[in-house]
Order: sequence, then C-alpha cells, then structure tokens
Amino acid sequence: MAIVEQENPLLEGLALRRTPDPCAMVIFGASGDLAHRKIFPALYSLLYRRLLPEHFGVIGVARTEGDDDQFREDMKEAVKKYGRDEFRDDVWEKLAEGMRWVTADFADEGGEDRIIEALNELDETRGTRGNRVYYLAVPPSAFEMIVEAMGKRRSTEGWTRLIVEKPFGYDLHSARELNALLTRYFEEREIFRIDHYLGKETVQNVLALRFANGIFEPIWNRQFIDHVQITVAETIGIEGRAAYYEKAGAIRDIFQNHLLQLLALTAMEPPIDFTADSVRNEKVKVLKAMHTPGPKSVVRGQYGRGFIEGVEVSGYREEPGVAPDSMTETFVAAKLYVDSWRWADTPFYVRMGKRLARRETTIAIQFKAAPHPPFEETQEEGLRPNVLLVHVQPDEGVSLAIGAKMPGQGMRIRTVHMDFLYGGAFRTGMPEAYERLILDCLVGDQTLFTRADEIEEQWLLVDTIVAAWQRDRPAFPNYAAGTWGPPSSDALIRRDGREWRRT
Ligand code: BG6
Repeated sequence: MAIVEQENPLLEGLALRRTPDPCAMVIFGASGDLAHRKIFPALYSLLYRRLLPEHFGVIGVARTEGDDDQFREDMKEAVKKYGRDEFRDDVWEKLAEGMRWVTADFADEGGEDRIIEALNELDETRGTRGNRVYYLAVPPSAFEMIVEAMGKRRSTEGWTRLIVEKPFGYDLHSARELNALLTRYFEEREIFRIDHYLGKETVQNVLALRFANGIFEPIWNRQFIDHVQITVAETIGIEGRAAYYEKAGAIRDIFQNHLLQLLALTAMEPPIDFTADSVRNEKVKVLKAMHTPGPKSVVRGQYGRGFIEGVEVSGYREEPGVAPDSMTETFVAAKLYVDSWRWADTPFYVRMGKRLARRETTIAIQFKAAPHPPFEETQEEGLRPNVLLVHVQPDEGVSLAIGAKMPGQGMRIRTVHMDFLYGGAFRTGMPEAYERLILDCLVGDQTLFTRADEIEEQWLLVDTIVAAWQRDRPAFPNYAAGTWGPPSSDALIRRDGREWRRT
C-alpha cells in the first residue's frame, strides 16, 4: 500500500499564525550556552520555515571581545551542531546578514549607547522599525543593570518586549523584587518569562487532550481519578553547572517551574478561551488552591556513585565545584493536594531528579478501579485500573491502559495499551520549545509564558517546603545514580497503599 504523505498539521498551525512585525532582537549573554544550543538553532529553524519577519536583525551582546564576523561564524557552527534542520547556506546567510555584535559590560558606562547605535543602524538598514525584543540570557545578577539601562532608553517608536530566562528569583522575596524591577520599566504585557516546558508540544497537548475531546473532561475529577503521578526524571547529572545547581537544587531547578506548570495544566479548570489571561488565570487558581504539604509529604535525595547505562558515574558531592559535604538535593518527591471541588482528597504524587534510572517526563492519570468486575476467572494482575499516560518526553505521545480479554478459553484479562505516538501520527520532527516561544514573543502572545502572580504563587509553595527542610539533615547521599531515588520516596507513596509507576 502506498503511503500517503500527510500534510504536517503542526506546521499548518504555525503557518496560520500572525506574521511577526519587523523587529530587532538583542540577546544579552550571546556568548553563552543558551544562545548556542537553543536560541540560534531556534532562530534558524524559524527562518527555515519562513516564520521570521522579512525585516529582522539580531544583536549579540556579551562582555567577551568579538566582532560581527566572529559572531556569525560562532553561531553558524552552533546551528550546524545543535540545529534540527538541514543546514542550508542560503537560509543561514539571510539570518547572518542581520547579525551584529556589541561588546558591552554593563558595569561600565557606555555599553547601552553602543547597543542603541546598533539598533538604530538595524532600523535604517534592515527596516526593523523601532520594534525591540530584549532577551535576558544572562545570570540573574546581571538582570538589574541591563533592565535599568535598556528600560531608561526605550525606543519611542514601535513596541518593546523583554524575554527573561529562568531562574526567576531564588525565593518569593527575590521574585517579588525582580517583578518590581521589571515593572518599573516594562508593562506586564511586555514581559515574557520563559518556562521552556510550556513550549514543548506534548505539554501543550495536555490542553488539547483535555479540552479538544469531549470524553475526558467529565471524568477528569476526584470521582473517577484515584491519583495523579508526575515524573520528571533525568539521567544526566549537573553537567558542569555546580555554581548554579548548588544554590538551586532540584526544588528550584525543576519543581518550582516545570513540575508545577505540568501540575497546573493537568489540574486547571477549562479556560473560557485560549487567550493568555484566561489560561493563566486558571493556572493561578490551581496554584493558589495548593495545600501546603506537611514535612512527611516531601522527601529529598542526593545521588551517590552509581551506573548510568552501564557506565560508572560519580556522586553529586564528587562533581567539580560541589562542596564535599553539600546538602543540595538532586531529587524531590512529594504528595501534593489541590484543594478544590474537582480535586479534594486526590493526591498528586510528583517526583523529579538527576541521575535517575531513565530519562522520562510523564503525567499519569490513574483512574479508580472498576467498582465490581463481574468475571469469575480473573487474574489479579489483570485487574489493574485504567491509566492515561501522557509521555511528555521521550517517545512523545499518549497511551491509555485498558483491560482486555486474553485470547482463549475463559475470561482472563490483561492490561494492553492504546497508543498515540507523535512520530507515527504526524510524521514530522517536533519543533523545539524555543522555536515556539520565540515566535510567540515576536507576535506578542503571552499564553505560554509565566505571569508575575503565577511565579509568585510557585515560590510561595517552594518557600514553605524549603523552610521545613531547615529542621532536619538527611544522610546524603541517599540514592545511587541510576536508581529511582531514595527509599523514602517509595515509602512516601507506599504509605498510601500505592506504587510509583515503573513502566
Ligand atoms: C532546565 C534545568 O530548566 O531544564 C536543567 O535547569 C534540566 O537542570 C532541564 O536538565 C531539562 O529540560 P529538558 O527540556 O531536557 O527536559
């Protein structure tokens, strides 16, 4: 049978979108990892699909000495290395023509003048019309100087938008201060706080699954759902980011942002429409309704030596830059509750960690068991309740576990899976989260960006958890790399007569 080439519906969606206005993007921290691995490959892929504006320019800003040509060469290599599309010189040249480099250290005066000069030049030569995107891909310690310098010299023509990378604050207090700083110079509608999980196709698919299908919403509540499990498991360690990770730990690195966003999307009420504020209002309601977990409902871990895919890896305390007696957690598991009519008494078990047994981000909706199976000849393992499993990554897709009759005499039931796999259904590469997020910012759509009140609610919860941690000192390391975390994580869920999913 001939395979009929399907149109790519994801691309179709993108093509229907508003084309961005002409604009210039200034990337602060352009010599950094993010610019190489994510931002430039994303810009290239957008241009490859003709989704960038015709009149576009990018100014790279960093303290390191450089010039336009070096910047172009450097990013060309990065796109070749990290990009998801074939490298085409003609596409690259188009992007490269609008690239400028400015060496600037915000600690000394004058850096912003050179940036403004470069922006004015782009307005003239590339027709970017005074529209600006300032992208803060720098450590938080540099935010203030940049925001003040650029905020004071806003362009009088066109629009200005600001993209802020995580970490957004260290706790509620610092997040509030940062919000106050940003709103001194920019309006909330101009601020785009990145949580790259929201740019992932499969994360957005949680919304499609719930609200584009009539069959799930009526059973998406405490009456039918026993509990929810959310797992963000990584096999990688901290990859040379000790300075950052030692202060952040798993709770600030993953729980405060990606994990709580996954939970909010799973638990939120249907928004009245898909405008940025309607969606974010519903997410904030979930975060506000979250019950403060007691100390017994949160466990933490730190990895020791172990094996990942057969290769021995060192323990966290042996990683370069990590204190030999570090108490930073690399794993968190928790039982959380959303106090609402929909979810009262329904636990959300969440776990996240580095150096775990497998890379897997999943949301498992565990339904209640059938009230009364009428079959006599059943087998215990055959009576597992239904699970709707959203595979955020890898093997992106959704699978529904149902009981089915095994062929043969009698009525033996076994769990089978109805699977939807992105790769199979759409036969297309998945766009990178950064493509979606950058384009959304260029068209001014904030739906997939975190609002100030949302961030603050997330920190409020984290602060209460972290405060309780001051009282005890777990015996770290307490799990071996390549396992599923410390025994206390299993104990947390077993106390309730449940188990973490292992498949
Ligand atoms: C980042 C964290 O936000 O997300 C990293 O700082 C983590 O520690 C990463 O590895 C995971 O992202 P992804 O897209 O690989 O799941």
